[in-house]
Order: sequence, then C-alpha cells, then structure tokens
Amino acid sequence: MDFYVETLFPEQVDSFLRASITGRALTRGIISLECLNIRDFAVNDYGKVDDTMYGGGTGMLMQCGPVYDCWKSVVDNRGGKAPYTVYVSPKGSVLTQAKARELASRDSLLIICGHYEGIDSRVIDEICDEEISIGDYVLTGGEIAAVTIIDCVSRMIPGVLPSEDAYMNESHMSGTLEGRQFTKPSEWHGRKVPDVLMSGDQAAIDEYNRISALVETWQKRPDMLERLEISEADWEKMLAMQKAL
Ligand code: ADE
Repeated sequence: MDFYVETLFPEQVDSFLRASITGRALTRGIISLECLNIRDFAVNDYGKVDDTMYGGGTGMLMQCGPVYDCWKSVVDNRGGKAPYTVYVSPKGSVLTQAKARELASRDSLLIICGHYEGIDSRVIDEICDEEISIGDYVLTGGEIAAVTIIDCVSRMIPGVLPSEDAYMNESHMSGTLEGRQFTKPSEWHGRKVPDVLMSGDQAAIDEYNRISALVETWQKRPDMLERLEISEADWEKMLAMQKAL
C-alpha cells in the first residue's frame, strides 16, 4: 500500500514511521511512504502557505493553492490516478478499527495534515474523500493523527505483522477487548497465572480467553458490552472469573 502525507513537518511523520514495525515494512517494500512538504508548493519565494481568515477570527488558515498543488503533484506522479485522500481534523468521524480495516483494503492513502487554524474549506471539498479525527480533543496539527492512522492501517496489511493471528484476536477486532495475558514467571509477587493456561488443554484455554475477553470489556469498556448479546451461562462464567481475580 502506498501512503502519502502532506504536511508542514515531514520529518516528524517520517522519523516516526521509519522506526520499528512500520519501518521494517517500509524497508521490505510491503508499504511505501512519501512525506511531502506543503511549503515546497508555497505561493511565494518566502514559503508562504497561510493567511488571515475572511470574516475575522484569530489565527491563520492554510491556503488552498499550496495544499492543492502538493496533492496534484502526487496525482501527476501516479499517472493521473488520485490516491484515496483524507483530511485529518477534530471535525472528522472518529477513527475505529473498522474504519482502519476499510482503509487497509485500498491501494493508496494520502493524508493531509492541517496546522494553525486549519485549511481553507474549499480545497478540502475539492480533493478530500473524507475527514477523520483520532478522538474528541484538539492537537496542534494533524501529524500525530496521520501517523496514528498509518500505523493502525499498516499492521492490517498482510506481511507487516509476523502472522495474521497477531491482530485477528486483538482488542476491538470482534467488538470486545482482548482478555488478560500472562508470561513467565508463573508466579510473581504472589500473583499466579490461571492454572488453565498452563494445562495444555486447548479447548479449555480458548474458553478461558473467550470469557476473559468479555470480563475485560465489562470492567473496562461497559459501553462496548451493550452492543453484545451475552447469554445467562456466559454471565455466570464471567461473574465466577471476576470473583476469582
Ligand atoms: N488535528 C487536530 N486535532 C485532531 C484530531 N483530534 N484528530 C485528527 N486531526 C487533528
């Protein structure tokens, strides 16, 4: 998958994504990343990309021209084929695992990062397919949102993680959080790993993990549990597991 980021701070986005798992996926060519500096498309020789707002209001707004010309350079380099284009802003619909999965099925994604007070609405209308927020709070710019989306989408692309199982059982994939997890030693500070996980009985382990996922969701994100139908029998198992914690 080809990622493009339009930003005033390309080095921020680039340095984050060139490290760790996404870095390895980039080196292996499973994904590609091009960070474009909007200032390279400035309206004058001084690198101007913003101006005051019509109708008043404090702060500066990024102008249509540089944002559009930057995007057009990508389209031209792709032989006229526009990448799926997203503007990140607190006004967008909030990113979910389902949205990330949908984005991961595309062959390209271009993310536009705003700064200052944002971007002139006309260029967003002209080139963006959708607007995405990473949560109901305001950041100083879109760069953290861009790396969040690219990180989350990348790990769903085959080959980026060591195995598909690595993300299929995770929190949010099936509408629940992931169950409690343990590693060695089997006892630490008097806290023991549940016997069943060391029993070798795979069916019992799967059942433990299924109920543990429901208990975690119930305790930490009760709002998610409301969307599930839980049987009497499962509630009893959940209560028993919760008591035993
Ligand atoms: N830019 C500023 N705040 C943001 C947010 N919450 N999500 C996406 N982009 C943003």
